Amino acid sequence: MKVTNAEFVISAVGPKQYPEDGLPEIALAGRSNVGKSSLINRMIQRKNLARTSSTPGKTQHLNYYRINEELYFVDVPGYGYAKVSKTQREQWGKMIEQYLQERETLRLVLQIIDLRHPPTKDDELMYDWLKAFDLPVCVVATKADKIPKSRWQKHMKIVREGLALRAGDPIVLFSSEEGTGKDELWALISQHVKAEESGREEGTDVSEDPVRNSVETDG
Ligand code: GTP
Ligand code: MG
Repeated sequence: MKVTNAEFVISAVGPKQYPEDGLPEIALAGRSNVGKSSLINRMIQRKNLARTSSTPGKTQHLNYYRINEELYFVDVPGYGYAKVSKTQREQWGKMIEQYLQERETLRLVLQIIDLRHPPTKDDELMYDWLKAFDLPVCVVATKADKIPKSRWQKHMKIVREGLALRAGDPIVLFSSEEGTGKDELWALISQHVKAEESGREEGTDVSEDPVRNSVETDG
Protein backbone atom coordinates (compact mmCIF):
# COMPACT_ATOMS: atom_id res chain seq x y z
CA MET A 1 0.00 0.00 0.00
CA LYS A 2 1.28 3.43 -0.90
CA VAL A 3 0.76 5.88 1.95
CA THR A 4 0.01 9.30 0.54
CA ASN A 5 -1.54 10.81 3.62
CA ALA A 6 -1.20 10.09 7.33
CA GLU A 7 -2.44 12.25 10.14
CA PHE A 8 -2.94 12.14 13.86
CA VAL A 9 -6.67 12.41 14.59
CA ILE A 10 -7.41 12.06 18.29
CA SER A 11 -6.17 10.75 21.59
CA ALA A 12 -9.26 8.97 22.87
CA VAL A 13 -10.06 7.79 26.38
CA GLY A 14 -13.44 6.30 25.54
CA PRO A 15 -16.10 5.58 22.90
CA LYS A 16 -17.40 9.16 22.80
CA GLN A 17 -14.15 10.20 21.20
CA TYR A 18 -13.77 7.37 18.71
CA PRO A 19 -14.02 8.57 15.09
CA GLU A 20 -17.42 8.07 13.52
CA ASP A 21 -16.58 7.71 9.84
CA GLY A 22 -16.60 3.90 10.01
CA LEU A 23 -13.15 3.33 8.50
CA PRO A 24 -11.59 -0.04 9.42
CA GLU A 25 -9.20 0.00 12.37
CA ILE A 26 -5.93 -1.82 12.97
CA ALA A 27 -4.92 -1.75 16.64
CA LEU A 28 -1.42 -2.18 18.03
CA ALA A 29 -0.99 -3.92 21.36
CA GLY A 30 2.21 -4.81 23.12
CA ARG A 31 4.45 -4.31 26.11
CA SER A 32 5.46 -0.83 26.99
CA ASN A 33 8.55 0.24 25.06
CA VAL A 34 8.41 -2.74 22.68
CA GLY A 35 8.21 -0.44 19.65
CA LYS A 36 4.52 0.06 18.78
CA SER A 37 4.77 3.74 17.92
CA SER A 38 8.00 3.19 15.99
CA LEU A 39 6.25 0.51 13.93
CA ILE A 40 3.50 2.95 12.94
CA ASN A 41 6.09 5.50 11.89
CA ARG A 42 7.93 2.94 9.78
CA MET A 43 4.73 1.73 8.13
CA ILE A 44 3.85 5.25 7.05
CA GLN A 45 7.43 6.37 6.43
CA ARG A 46 7.23 9.28 8.83
CA LYS A 47 9.94 9.89 11.40
CA ASN A 48 7.86 11.08 14.26
CA LEU A 49 4.12 11.18 13.64
CA ALA A 50 3.52 8.63 16.39
CA ARG A 51 5.40 9.79 19.44
CA THR A 52 8.14 7.42 20.51
CA SER A 53 10.39 7.46 23.52
CA SER A 54 13.01 5.43 25.32
CA THR A 55 10.99 6.10 28.49
CA PRO A 56 8.22 3.51 28.88
CA GLY A 57 4.65 4.71 29.13
CA LYS A 58 4.69 7.41 26.48
CA THR A 59 1.42 6.41 24.85
CA GLN A 60 -1.37 6.66 27.43
CA HIS A 61 -4.55 6.91 25.40
CA LEU A 62 -5.95 5.32 22.27
CA ASN A 63 -4.14 7.35 19.66
CA TYR A 64 -5.83 7.37 16.27
CA TYR A 65 -3.87 7.86 13.04
CA ARG A 66 -5.82 8.08 9.80
CA ILE A 67 -4.04 6.64 6.76
CA ASN A 68 -5.08 7.62 3.21
CA GLU A 69 -8.73 8.06 4.23
CA GLU A 70 -8.70 4.25 4.14
CA LEU A 71 -7.99 3.00 7.64
CA TYR A 72 -6.90 3.91 11.14
CA PHE A 73 -3.93 2.72 13.13
CA VAL A 74 -4.89 2.75 16.79
CA ASP A 75 -1.86 2.97 19.08
CA VAL A 76 -2.87 1.32 22.35
CA PRO A 77 -0.98 2.08 25.59
CA GLY A 78 1.59 -0.57 26.46
CA TYR A 79 1.26 -3.07 29.29
CA GLY A 80 3.83 -4.55 31.65
CA TYR A 81 5.24 -1.32 33.00
CA ALA A 82 5.59 -1.77 36.75
CA LYS A 83 5.69 1.87 37.83
CA VAL A 84 2.00 2.48 37.71
CA SER A 85 -0.66 2.77 40.39
CA LYS A 86 -3.41 0.23 40.86
CA THR A 87 -6.02 2.85 39.99
CA GLN A 88 -4.27 3.71 36.74
CA ARG A 89 -3.98 0.05 35.88
CA GLU A 90 -7.69 -0.47 36.41
CA GLN A 91 -8.56 2.57 34.29
CA TRP A 92 -6.30 1.27 31.56
CA GLY A 93 -7.90 -2.16 31.77
CA LYS A 94 -11.38 -0.74 31.36
CA MET A 95 -10.43 1.52 28.47
CA ILE A 96 -8.69 -1.25 26.52
CA GLU A 97 -11.27 -3.87 27.30
CA GLN A 98 -14.12 -1.65 26.17
CA TYR A 99 -12.31 -0.84 22.97
CA LEU A 100 -11.30 -4.38 22.06
CA GLN A 101 -14.60 -5.88 23.08
CA GLU A 102 -17.00 -3.42 21.51
CA ARG A 103 -15.38 -1.66 18.60
CA GLU A 104 -17.15 -2.93 15.52
CA THR A 105 -14.76 -1.38 13.02
CA LEU A 106 -11.76 -3.15 14.58
CA ARG A 107 -10.45 -5.53 11.90
CA LEU A 108 -7.11 -6.74 13.15
CA VAL A 109 -4.87 -6.49 16.20
CA LEU A 110 -1.13 -6.37 15.68
CA GLN A 111 0.43 -7.82 18.81
CA ILE A 112 3.96 -6.54 18.97
CA ILE A 113 6.60 -8.78 20.58
CA ASP A 114 10.32 -8.19 21.08
CA LEU A 115 12.05 -10.78 18.85
CA ARG A 116 15.08 -10.82 21.14
CA HIS A 117 13.26 -12.27 24.14
CA PRO A 118 10.75 -15.04 24.80
CA PRO A 119 7.21 -13.65 25.24
CA THR A 120 6.54 -12.47 28.80
CA LYS A 121 3.68 -13.67 30.98
CA ASP A 122 1.87 -10.43 30.08
CA ASP A 123 2.38 -11.12 26.37
CA GLU A 124 0.86 -14.56 26.79
CA LEU A 125 -2.11 -13.17 28.75
CA MET A 126 -2.71 -10.47 26.17
CA TYR A 127 -2.66 -12.94 23.30
CA ASP A 128 -5.05 -15.31 25.12
CA TRP A 129 -7.32 -12.38 25.91
CA LEU A 130 -7.44 -11.25 22.28
CA LYS A 131 -8.28 -14.79 21.25
CA ALA A 132 -11.01 -14.96 23.91
CA PHE A 133 -12.55 -11.93 22.19
CA ASP A 134 -12.31 -13.76 18.86
CA LEU A 135 -10.17 -11.06 17.33
CA PRO A 136 -7.94 -11.74 14.36
CA VAL A 137 -4.36 -11.26 15.55
CA CYS A 138 -1.13 -10.82 13.65
CA VAL A 139 1.95 -11.20 15.82
CA VAL A 140 4.75 -8.86 14.84
CA ALA A 141 8.18 -9.75 16.20
CA THR A 142 10.09 -6.50 16.11
CA LYS A 143 13.62 -5.18 16.74
CA ALA A 144 14.95 -7.87 14.38
CA ASP A 145 17.91 -5.58 13.58
CA LYS A 146 19.15 -6.22 17.12
CA ILE A 147 19.95 -9.86 16.49
CA PRO A 148 21.93 -11.55 13.72
CA LYS A 149 19.97 -12.84 10.75
CA SER A 150 21.29 -16.35 11.36
CA ARG A 151 19.30 -16.47 14.62
CA TRP A 152 16.01 -15.03 13.32
CA GLN A 153 14.27 -18.34 12.72
CA LYS A 154 15.28 -19.72 16.11
CA HIS A 155 13.85 -16.65 17.80
CA MET A 156 10.67 -16.76 15.72
CA LYS A 157 10.13 -20.33 16.89
CA ILE A 158 10.52 -19.27 20.52
CA VAL A 159 7.93 -16.51 20.04
CA ARG A 160 5.50 -18.86 18.27
CA GLU A 161 5.81 -21.52 20.96
CA GLY A 162 5.82 -19.06 23.86
CA LEU A 163 2.47 -17.66 22.78
CA ALA A 164 1.10 -21.01 21.63
CA LEU A 165 0.18 -19.25 18.40
CA ARG A 166 -3.18 -20.42 17.06
CA ALA A 167 -3.38 -21.93 13.60
CA GLY A 168 -4.17 -19.24 11.09
CA ASP A 169 -2.64 -16.38 13.07
CA PRO A 170 0.28 -15.02 11.08
CA ILE A 171 3.60 -13.88 12.49
CA VAL A 172 5.76 -11.27 10.79
CA LEU A 173 9.41 -10.53 11.46
CA PHE A 174 9.92 -6.78 11.63
CA SER A 175 12.41 -3.98 12.17
CA SER A 176 11.36 -0.37 12.49
CA GLU A 177 15.00 0.55 12.25
CA GLU A 178 15.61 -1.13 8.89
CA GLY A 179 12.13 -1.62 7.42
CA THR A 180 12.26 -5.42 7.44
CA GLY A 181 8.76 -6.92 7.14
CA LYS A 182 7.06 -3.69 6.12
CA ASP A 183 5.71 -4.92 2.77
CA GLU A 184 4.62 -8.24 4.23
CA LEU A 185 2.75 -6.47 7.02
CA TRP A 186 1.05 -4.05 4.62
CA ALA A 187 -0.12 -7.00 2.52
CA LEU A 188 -1.68 -8.61 5.59
CA ILE A 189 -3.30 -5.38 6.73
CA SER A 190 -4.74 -4.78 3.26
CA GLN A 191 -6.38 -8.21 3.29
CA HIS A 192 -8.12 -7.43 6.56
CA VAL A 193 -9.12 -3.95 5.48
CA LYS A 194 -10.67 -5.27 2.29
CA ALA A 195 -12.47 -8.18 3.92
CA GLU A 196 -16.14 -7.36 4.24
CA GLU A 197 -16.60 -9.19 7.50
CA SER A 198 -14.60 -8.08 10.48
CA GLY A 199 -13.71 -11.66 11.36
CA ARG A 200 -15.13 -11.24 14.83
CA GLU A 201 -17.57 -14.06 15.40
CA GLU A 202 -21.02 -13.12 16.55
CA GLY A 203 -22.58 -14.35 19.74
CA THR A 204 -19.28 -15.24 21.36
CA ASP A 205 -19.37 -15.19 25.13
CA VAL A 206 -16.66 -12.86 26.30
CA SER A 207 -17.89 -12.52 29.86
CA GLU A 208 -15.04 -14.74 31.02
CA ASP A 209 -12.16 -12.34 30.99
CA PRO A 210 -8.89 -14.15 31.61
CA VAL A 211 -6.68 -11.17 32.23
CA ARG A 212 -8.68 -8.29 33.58
CA ASN A 213 -6.65 -6.66 36.34
CA SER A 214 -3.75 -8.99 35.79
CA VAL A 215 -2.00 -7.45 32.82
CA GLU A 216 0.21 -4.73 34.17
CA THR A 217 0.13 -1.43 32.37
CA ASP A 218 2.20 1.63 31.97
CA GLY A 219 -0.83 3.85 32.57
P1 GTP B 1 5.08 2.92 24.78
O1 GTP B 1 4.36 4.00 24.03
O2 GTP B 1 5.79 3.40 25.99
O3 GTP B 1 4.21 1.76 25.10
O4 GTP B 1 6.27 2.37 23.85
P2 GTP B 1 6.21 1.87 22.33
O5 GTP B 1 5.85 0.44 22.31
O6 GTP B 1 5.38 2.80 21.52
O7 GTP B 1 7.75 1.96 21.91
P3 GTP B 1 8.47 3.06 21.03
O8 GTP B 1 8.04 2.96 19.60
O9 GTP B 1 8.35 4.38 21.70
O10 GTP B 1 9.98 2.54 21.06
C1 GTP B 1 10.67 2.33 22.27
C2 GTP B 1 12.19 2.34 22.01
O11 GTP B 1 12.56 1.23 21.18
C3 GTP B 1 12.68 3.59 21.25
O12 GTP B 1 13.92 3.96 21.79
C4 GTP B 1 12.80 3.11 19.82
O13 GTP B 1 13.77 3.81 19.07
C5 GTP B 1 13.23 1.66 20.01
N1 GTP B 1 12.82 0.79 18.89
C6 GTP B 1 11.56 0.58 18.45
N2 GTP B 1 11.52 -0.28 17.41
C7 GTP B 1 12.80 -0.61 17.15
C8 GTP B 1 13.43 -1.47 16.16
O14 GTP B 1 12.80 -2.11 15.30
N3 GTP B 1 14.79 -1.56 16.23
C9 GTP B 1 15.53 -0.90 17.17
N4 GTP B 1 16.84 -1.08 17.16
N5 GTP B 1 14.98 -0.09 18.08
C10 GTP B 1 13.64 0.07 18.08
MG1 MG C 1 4.14 4.34 22.06
